[in-house]
Amino acid sequence: MNKSKSFSQAWWCIILLLGLGLESASAAGVDPKLWRSGDQKFSGVIIPGFASTRLRSWSLLDCPFSPLDFNPLDPVWLDLRKVISVPQCWMKCMMLDPYNQTDHPECKSRPDSGVSAITEMDPGYFTGPLSSVWKEWVSWCVEFGVDAESIVAAPYDWRLAGPVLEERDLYFHRLRLTFETLRKLRGGPSLVFAHSLGNNVFRYFLEWLKQEVPPKLYTTWIDDHIFTYHALGAPFLGAPDALKGVLSGVTFGLPISEGTARIMLGTFSSGLWMLPFSDNKPLSQRNTTKTEGLVAPDWPVNVLEVDMPTSALAALANYTVPIQRFYSAQKISDGTSFKEMGEFDPQAKLAFYQLKKYYLDNPLFNPLTPWERPPIKNVFCMYGINLKTEVGYQLSPSGKPYPDNWIIKDVIYETDGGSLQTRSGLDVDGKGGVASGDSTVPYHSLSWCKRWLGPRVNITRAPQTAHEGSDIQEVFDVEHEHGGDLVYNGSRDSRIKYITYYEDAVGLAGKKTAVWEFDKIDHRNLVRSPVLLRELLLENVHNSHPQAVRSFVSKARRVPLRDEDCYWDYSKAKCGLLDYCEYRYVFGDVHLGQSCRLKASTDKDILQYF
Ligand SMILES: *[C@@H]1O[C@H](CO)[C@@H](O)[C@H](O)[C@H]1NC(C)=O
Ligand SMILES: *[C@@H]1O[C@H](CO)[C@@H](O)[C@H](O)[C@H]1NC(C)=O
Ligand SMILES: *[C@@H]1O[C@H](CO)[C@@H](O)[C@H](O)[C@H]1NC(C)=O
Ligand SMILES: *[C@@H]1O[C@H](CO)[C@@H](O)[C@H](O)[C@H]1NC(C)=O
Ligand SMILES: *[C@@H]1O[C@H](CO)[C@@H](O)[C@H](O)[C@H]1NC(C)=O
Repeated sequence: MNKSKSFSQAWWCIILLLGLGLESASAAGVDPKLWRSGDQKFSGVIIPGFASTRLRSWSLLDCPFSPLDFNPLDPVWLDLRKVISVPQCWMKCMMLDPYNQTDHPECKSRPDSGVSAITEMDPGYFTGPLSSVWKEWVSWCVEFGVDAESIVAAPYDWRLAGPVLEERDLYFHRLRLTFETLRKLRGGPSLVFAHSLGNNVFRYFLEWLKQEVPPKLYTTWIDDHIFTYHALGAPFLGAPDALKGVLSGVTFGLPISEGTARIMLGTFSSGLWMLPFSDNKPLSQRNTTKTEGLVAPDWPVNVLEVDMPTSALAALANYTVPIQRFYSAQKISDGTSFKEMGEFDPQAKLAFYQLKKYYLDNPLFNPLTPWERPPIKNVFCMYGINLKTEVGYQLSPSGKPYPDNWIIKDVIYETDGGSLQTRSGLDVDGKGGVASGDSTVPYHSLSWCKRWLGPRVNITRAPQTAHEGSDIQEVFDVEHEHGGDLVYNGSRDSRIKYITYYEDAVGLAGKKTAVWEFDKIDHRNLVRSPVLLRELLLENVHNSHPQAVRSFVSKARRVPLRDEDCYWDYSKAKCGLLDYCEYRYVFGDVHLGQSCRLKASTDKDILQYF
C-alpha cells in the first residue's frame, strides 16, 4: 500500500468535502477545523458541450442485410460499430427534419440522463477524445469522496437550437427545477461548470429565466441558486469551426465522408449556435458610446472568402460584385453569406432558413450577439491559449455535385503569440492579435470575457507546475476601460507554460470576476487538465472559507498536491521539488518521473494559500 498516495487522496477529499459540502472529515494530518468552509452546502451542475451527451434510440429500426438493428435504448451517439456497419440506419437515427427539427419517421433518438450520459459515449469501442470529456472530472470527484448527490449533469439534445430544446424537451424548465431541487437538497446555491457550447446553452437559460420570473425576482433567484459560473472554453463570439461544419462538413474523426457529415450536421439547428459574429447591428446603427452595450470588435480576418462558381454568375448578375466574395463574421451571422451562397448551394439556403427561424428572429433574444456579464456573484472564465487555431477559410467550387460542391482552398490560422499564417504559406491580409486560441475557438472569442472585468484589474502570471513563487509576475490595479480589451504583455520564458490570471473583486459591489488563461491547453482537454482542476479546487475552497482574507486565492506558491505533480529533473539527475517530493520506486513504474512521489510530510495546510 502506498502510504503517501492515500495521504494526498485524503487531503483532496477534504478540499472537496468543504468545497462541495460533505460533512464527515476524517483527515490524515490535516486539521479539519482549518478546512471548514462554514455552512455553505454547494453542489456542482455540469452543462456539457456539443456532441458530449449520449443519445439513445427510442425506436425499433430494422437495418436491412445486417444483424445489427436499432432497438429502444440502444446508444446512437455514439456506437461506432453501427456507424461502420449500418451507416444508413445510423443516419436515420441521428438526422432531424431540417425545417422543423422533428425526428426521422423511422427512428428517433433522445438524450440520456444522469452523469453517465456525459461521461461514456461509446464504452469499449471509441476511446478518442470525443468519448470521455468529463470522465476524468467525475472520477476525480469519486476518487476524492464527493457525494453523488452533489454533482449533477444537465445533458441535452445537442442537435437542437435553444427554442427547440425548450419546446420539445422543456429543457430550460427542467434546468430551473434542477437548481431549485439542489438548493432544497443541499441548502445552498450551485456552482455551474459549462464547457464549450454548454456556455451558449447556459446563456440561453438565463435569458429564458428572465421571462419566467418577475423582473424584481430575477436577480434574487440567481443569488439564491447560482454562486459561481465557470465558463470553460466558452466561444463567446463563436468559432469559425462551426462555419466549416455547415459548408464543408466536420467528421469528428468518425469513419464517414465529409459530405455525409455535412448533410447530417445541416439538419441540426444547433450547428449555427457557434457561428462567428462580431456585432448584430450594422456599423451605421452601432452606439459607439459603449454605455448602451458592449460592441464586439471585428475578427482578425474575413472569416470566409468564396470563389463563386461560374454557373452561379447568372444568378448573381444582379449583385454587381466580383466573382470572389469576402464575408466578415458580421456578414456570416446576419445571414448575408448564406443568402448569397444559397442561390446555388441547397445547404447554404437551409442554413439561412434555420438562422432566421431559430436565431435572428428568435423572440427571446438573438444568441448571435455579444453577451454582457451575467448578474452572478462569481464569474470565472477559463480557457487554453496559444495553440494553432483556425480563424478563416477560402472556399472554391470543386466541380462536384452537392454535398461535395466546395473544397477548402486555404485555411487561415492564428498561431502562438497571435500571428497569422495560412495552410498554403501565402501571405494573409489581416490583423493578428496578442495570442491564439485553444485549437478550436480563436482567442478573439475566448477572451471576450475580459470585457466583463471592471475598471481596475489585478494581473498575475505564474507557472502551471508546482512552484515557490520565484517566477511570478504581479501587477496591481491595471486601468481598464469598461468594454475595452485588456492586454498584459509581461515577459514569458518560452520553456515555461504559464497561467495568466486577470482578477477584479472591486468593479461590482459584492461580485468577483476573473479570467484565467492557460498556455497550450487544448479546447477539449481543458476539462480534464490536472492544472485546471487544482486551481478550481483551491479557488472554490477559498471562496467559501471563513478564514479567507483575500479576494482570490493566493498565487504565491503551489506545492505539489499529488504524486503526479512530482517530476524527474534531468538537469540535476534527481527528483525536482525535493522539499515535497522524493524518489521512491514502486514496482510497475516505467519512467523516472513516475518514481518521484509526494513525501508523506508535505504541508497540507490550506491556510498557506490564503
Ligand atoms: C415536419 O416536417 C415534415 C416534413 O416536411 C412533415 O412531414 C411533418 O408533418 C412536420 N411536422 C410538424 C410537427 O410540423
Ligand atoms: C447611445 O447611448 C447613449 C446612452 O445610452 C444614448 O444617450 C444615445 O442616445 C445613444 N445613441 C444612439 C445613436 O442610439
Ligand atoms: C435580378 O434582376 C431581375 C431583372 O432585373 C429581377 O427580375 C430579379 O428579381 C432580380 N433578382 C434578384 C435576386 O434581385
Ligand atoms: C503593452 O501593450 C499595450 C497595449 O497593447 C501597449 O500600449 C504597450 O506599449 C505594451 N507595452 C510593452 C512594454 O510592450
Ligand atoms: C488587487 O489586489 C489588492 C491587494 O490584494 C487589493 O487591495 C485590490 O482590491 C485588488 N484589486 C482588484 C481590482 O481586485
